[in-house]
Amino acid sequence: MDCEITYLKPYGVLITPKSDTNIEALNIKELKQFFHQEHLILLRGFDAFDSADKFAEYCENWGEVSLWPFGKVLELIQQDEPEDHIFDNSYMPLHWDGMYRPQVPEYQIFQCVKAPQAGQGGRTTFSNTLLALKNAPEEHVSLWKKTTGNYHRKMSFYNSKTVSPIITKHPQREHLVIRYNEPHIEEKGDFVNPPDLNFTGIEAEEVELLHASLRQALYDPQNFYAHEWQTGDVVICDNFSLLHGREAFITQSHRHLRRVQVLSNPPVDNPSLESYQ
Ligand SMILES: [Fe+2]
Repeated sequence: MDCEITYLKPYGVLITPKSDTNIEALNIKELKQFFHQEHLILLRGFDAFDSADKFAEYCENWGEVSLWPFGKVLELIQQDEPEDHIFDNSYMPLHWDGMYRPQVPEYQIFQCVKAPQAGQGGRTTFSNTLLALKNAPEEHVSLWKKTTGNYHRKMSFYNSKTVSPIITKHPQREHLVIRYNEPHIEEKGDFVNPPDLNFTGIEAEEVELLHASLRQALYDPQNFYAHEWQTGDVVICDNFSLLHGREAFITQSHRHLRRVQVLSNPPVDNPSLESYQ
């Protein structure tokens, strides 16, 4: 690829065009090699997709797009009176996509249609759980290994129960990953329609240490990357290995992202889904 390649810290890769700004000219096979090594690719400086359909069409190059009741593309824009935190400007705790759905997508592809201005917040947060496991003290990892997360979330797209060990095997590789939906932190402000969370397999007095140790590991700068959006950015990230969330942003900052989920080949059926309506 005739592009500038810059490695991000502590993981991820930024690819910018040297001359050809057509994103379609990038070789998907080569991009997938970067994806598997780095878990996050930022494409910056390429021509923007001028519609959701064009964006979805591009995402089809990566694999089978996951279908939702609203279609292929989720338009992430703050709503005036959101019924769910996803459409609010609040912070969003770390989680993995598809945890409440029949299939877990491997790729999340975002297009930034409009970035908030500098200082308005709204970074998307990513924690690399491979690094978190590698860098955490053994006693924390053994606590996580004993624990199972029990989650119930009801929103307009589903009403689901999910039960997942905190530490589990990557669905297509031999190494371990962390699957965790972080409880929202009250001090970080209002949070519309929180899920019900319950953590079992450990003593009641260990629950505080569980969350504190996971928070420490997942937000440690060695393992954590927060992406500050620029209009036109395309970010492709590894939903099997990373957890992601969002920082709060100033209301009416006109932040607009599009998100498409792409399934692995073969697709991964959600091993944790207990019930789904
Ligand atoms: Fe998400």
